[in-house]
Amino acid sequence: MQTLANILATSNPPLVDFKRTLDIVDEQLQAGRIAQPLDLLFEDLRERREEDPQDWASYARSCLGHPLRSLLHQDPFTYRAFAKPRGYAGDAVMMDYIYGLGEAGAAARGASPLGRAIFQHMDTRPSAKAVRYRRRLLARLVDQVAGRGGSSVLAIAAGHLREVELSQAVRTGKLQEYVAFDQDEASLAVVAHDYAHLGVRTMPGSVRQILAGKAQLGKYDFVYAAGLYDYLGEAAAVALTRRMFEMTRPGGSMLIPNFLVGARDTGYMESFMDWHLVYRDHADMQSLVNALPRGEVADCRIFDDPDNTITFLLVSKVAVVSVPTERSC
Ligand SMILES: C[S@@+](CC[C@H](N)C(=O)[O-])C[C@H]1O[C@@H](n2cnc3c(N)ncnc32)[C@H](O)[C@@H]1O
Repeated sequence: MQTLANILATSNPPLVDFKRTLDIVDEQLQAGRIAQPLDLLFEDLRERREEDPQDWASYARSCLGHPLRSLLHQDPFTYRAFAKPRGYAGDAVMMDYIYGLGEAGAAARGASPLGRAIFQHMDTRPSAKAVRYRRRLLARLVDQVAGRGGSSVLAIAAGHLREVELSQAVRTGKLQEYVAFDQDEASLAVVAHDYAHLGVRTMPGSVRQILAGKAQLGKYDFVYAAGLYDYLGEAAAVALTRRMFEMTRPGGSMLIPNFLVGARDTGYMESFMDWHLVYRDHADMQSLVNALPRGEVADCRIFDDPDNTITFLLVSKVAVVSVPTERSC
């Protein structure tokens, strides 16, 4: 039997007929094969999106009209993104599916055997690995800030704030203040339930309120917004970056992650998940830094996760040398 890999490798032009690809993946999933057809589907959709941007939107829509959709939507992760029970894809419950926390176990148990197998395979994809990397990085940075004597952290778009579980500084009570800010009150209720005993405080509010000056959040040694910029257009991203930097204490730092242009799972996300992010490259991240007061930026780094799926902008602020206010002469 010809495998999907063979068909895709030998076809000329390189992309076989769109419907035929979906038919083959459908057949293979029904035959109980999971990893290879799914990975090739992800790759095929990525290539189509990159090589044929003009027709991509209509390709993506036609995916949802193919019977393969009913198989892929048995995966709780794919289906939740598509169904958007909180009004948007990528809510904190979905992040828990990636972290294997919260409702992840119940979702797996409630799925069909095929859905469960696809769900497990989603964990191996670069986007899931990058999101887990982001969580570990956040916890490491919180610990570094605490190690340098910092005592306060602000998480904007905190979701369920799962990084606190990995932070030694939080567990050992080294921080005086850890604020979780999010517009989703159901997510903040989970944070309060799970982490209030660790000293975490929740604050409901939206980016819009921050930008309008209606959310007075204070100043912190570390300010970050994980999984938020992927939803912000240019103007809001620049304005929020300025506000986050204002909320960063002298000597403190801020972190802004964003899914990278060219991330390998984008085609699948935009088609079967109907999950559309704002992707940024290094130049885009640099332009966020360029919007900051130059004299106040002590250091700035832009780096990616090991699978080149999420890029991170880490900016530190100069420590102000205290100047006596009274004239000495
Ligand atoms: C992808 S989740 C990320 C959650 C968490 N930071 C993480 O990394 O797991 C996105 C979060 O951003 C929040 N969010 C999205 N848009 C927002 C806005 N305009 N203002 C405040 N929060 C927002 C959502 O409620 C959600 O909890």
